[in-house]
Amino acid sequence: MSRFGGSLFGLSLLLTVLLGAATAAAEYYNYGNALDKTFLFFEAQRSGKLPAAQRVKWRSHSGLADGLAQGVSLEGGYYDAGDHVKFGLPMAFAVTMLSWAAVDNQKELSGSNQMQQTLWSIRWGTDYFIKAHPQPNVLWGQVGDGKSDHYCWERAEDMTTSRTAYKLDQYHPGSDLAGETAAALAAASLAFKPYNSSYSAILLTHAKELFSFADKYRGLYTDSIPNAKAFYMSSGYSVNPF
Ligand SMILES: *[C@@H]1O[C@H](CO)[C@@H](O)[C@H](O)[C@H]1NC(C)=O
Repeated sequence: MSRFGGSLFGLSLLLTVLLGAATAAAEYYNYGNALDKTFLFFEAQRSGKLPAAQRVKWRSHSGLADGLAQGVSLEGGYYDAGDHVKFGLPMAFAVTMLSWAAVDNQKELSGSNQMQQTLWSIRWGTDYFIKAHPQPNVLWGQVGDGKSDHYCWERAEDMTTSRTAYKLDQYHPGSDLAGETAAALAAASLAFKPYNSSYSAILLTHAKELFSFADKYRGLYTDSIPNAKAFYMSSGYSVNPF
């Protein structure tokens, strides 16, 4: 449950370090193999209906009814850590890091046969963000209640905890979360551009709409989704914090 240990946040930082190392010392160590294992972590964190190609075989479908009670399909995305909350902010950050890794290290990732895995890791997040953004000024920012989830240690496949979903809209703004999700989608759009231009265009449309929403209706997302406050406060959304 450690926020920096086994979390999406921590692993996406590790990925960046490994890519740096792979570039610097590729001849001496098999960093491609280490990269492959970081992508296994992302597979193990998958929520929703898993594909046949899923390599982490001890995982199965879970969270299939996420959003149903709220009238929206929020199936998919990533669980945050050892818990089963789908927190929007670290998920968007992780997808942003993965996407920039794909853009900045295209040659290295392709060279170590990891580009396909990278794109799948990104897409598992972006397909979910697309579902979580059903209208221009609506973004579902969290599924699951942080507090009750942490009292209950069970497999995601057997989940019995509350799957309350929380949303942002024009009356409940969240410029930090909507802005970070826009950043994730925009970076993913760049990452996908050489491989799937139609998907890249879809991502860019969502990114632009979310950026407008973030800019037009300003506020901290934790004021609109107080449940996230104890877990992932942002550092704000001003243009220049310095
Ligand atoms: C490209 O993205 C579209 C839209 O999501 C999808 O239907 C299609 O299967 C993708 N193509 C490839 C080659 O992955």
